[in-house]
Amino acid sequence: MGPLALQAAWLADYRPALRLTEQGSVIAVGDGIAWVTGLPSAAIDDLLQFEDGSRALVFDLTEERIGAILLHETNALTAGTRVQLTGQRLSMPVSNALLGRVIDPLGMPLDGKEPILSSTWQRLEAPSPPIVARDFVHQPLYTGIKIIDALIPIGKGQRQLLIGDDGLGRSSIAIDTVINQRGKNVLCIYVLIGQKRSTVINTIETLRSHGALEYTTIVAAEASSLPGLQHLAPFSGCALAEFWMRQGYDALVIYDDLTSHAQNYRALSLLLRRPPGREAYPGDIFSVHARLLERATCLNATHGGGSMTALPIIETKQGEIATYIPTNLISITDGQVYLDRALFAGGFRPAIDIGRSVSRIGGQAQHPRIKEEAGHMKLDYLQFLELEIFTRFGARLEASMETAIARGRRLREILKQERLAPVPAEFQLAWLTAFNDRLFDAIPLESIAAALEVLGRQLRQSGLTLDAPRQQWSTAAAGWLQPLRQKVQA
Ligand SMILES: Nc1ncnc2c1ncn2[C@@H]1O[C@H](COP(=O)(O)OP(=O)(O)O)[C@@H](O)[C@H]1O
Ligand SMILES: [Mg+2]
Repeated sequence: MGPLALQAAWLADYRPALRLTEQGSVIAVGDGIAWVTGLPSAAIDDLLQFEDGSRALVFDLTEERIGAILLHETNALTAGTRVQLTGQRLSMPVSNALLGRVIDPLGMPLDGKEPILSSTWQRLEAPSPPIVARDFVHQPLYTGIKIIDALIPIGKGQRQLLIGDDGLGRSSIAIDTVINQRGKNVLCIYVLIGQKRSTVINTIETLRSHGALEYTTIVAAEASSLPGLQHLAPFSGCALAEFWMRQGYDALVIYDDLTSHAQNYRALSLLLRRPPGREAYPGDIFSVHARLLERATCLNATHGGGSMTALPIIETKQGEIATYIPTNLISITDGQVYLDRALFAGGFRPAIDIGRSVSRIGGQAQHPRIKEEAGHMKLDYLQFLELEIFTRFGARLEASMETAIARGRRLREILKQERLAPVPAEFQLAWLTAFNDRLFDAIPLESIAAALEVLGRQLRQSGLTLDAPRQQWSTAAAGWLQPLRQKVQA
């Protein structure tokens, strides 16, 4: 064979084809975003890569240019820096090795420990589970907070909003709930969005010192983080919770808080010159939060039976819940725990306003015995709150009303709870039974705390379970409180 024939044989398989690589370039960069031109096939949420290896996410598209949010701190970007489409979607490594770790929204360690290696990657944005894969919420998720577990119970797979002004104890409730999952096989994710560094550190330390970090992952994008990362933080926490849920675990994810998230999204959108809507928020903030919270659910047995419970936190100003973001979130969630400034100032903590709090689906998951006792107690409490208003006007009251008020005052004392002191579900049944049996009536207000102490101590030794018949609880509670009641009467 001559050289020409050889060449022909070589090329026999060659099919000419054109492979296009789009080449974009940066027009401008600043405030955590980059304007890019020259990537005609880019779509929203596409991942871009710059020359220096750093990445950005396509956030806004116009005919002339792309607005992208930066995912890495870098000084290497200037006008003219080259950009390419990666053809990938943003995802993060997920694994059980994330428990006990503090990460950024891309899964990079923030705790100075080893990088997270995993062969499993989870996309940050994913469709929510289809209806056929979902189950009704049917198992309780105990917060360990008396007033919530009794009156505003939360079920696994529920989305319950924690709402109130700044400084009234929203994060404290979330942290207590995480601490209360110890030994309960619930994997927790605490997402911190736009918080001060000191808050981030305090949260980590509180969880660590209460032994809660070992079953928790903290996803943090503090106030000084890139706005792109702050935006992605809840989606990252959600992706991790989703990974666990699909493996059949019960996951609990806290978003602290979505007000900062919305404000950050508004700032990003204004920088990207999107048209502002109500309160200058972009029109799609509702769908951003709806997409996030839709992913929390309870899977049915054929889909592994895992669940994702979500506790988003939002802030009100002067207790006003009728503003844009609170109304949105109230309509997306299955209920809210509302914290009130007057209650907080009056020393009623946790400062939960029963009248304005609701759990639309958690009742189905509440233990039937707790539900029954709590139902009686709630009626007494609501009646008391109404009556108490009359007493402020100095109205003269009938004896029966006096009794109702005296009982209500005791109940209010019982419902007070320090932070970082979650109580087991059995304790709920103990005090509820005692209250409904009127065992506290003869105990003065200042001895209520001591009475609860006694109940707690005796309960631990008793081995009584939630399923024990009422008679057994009733007898036990009466016996436990007897010495104290005799003492105060003497
Ligand atoms: N149950 C409680 N009992 C006493 N103090 C509380 C309780 N819950 C919260 N606090 C106090 O209230 C303050 C604000 O709580 P925090 O959870 O940070 O509020 P938020 O997250 O709503 O801004 C903290 O100083 C905290 O110690
Ligand atoms: Mg807080």
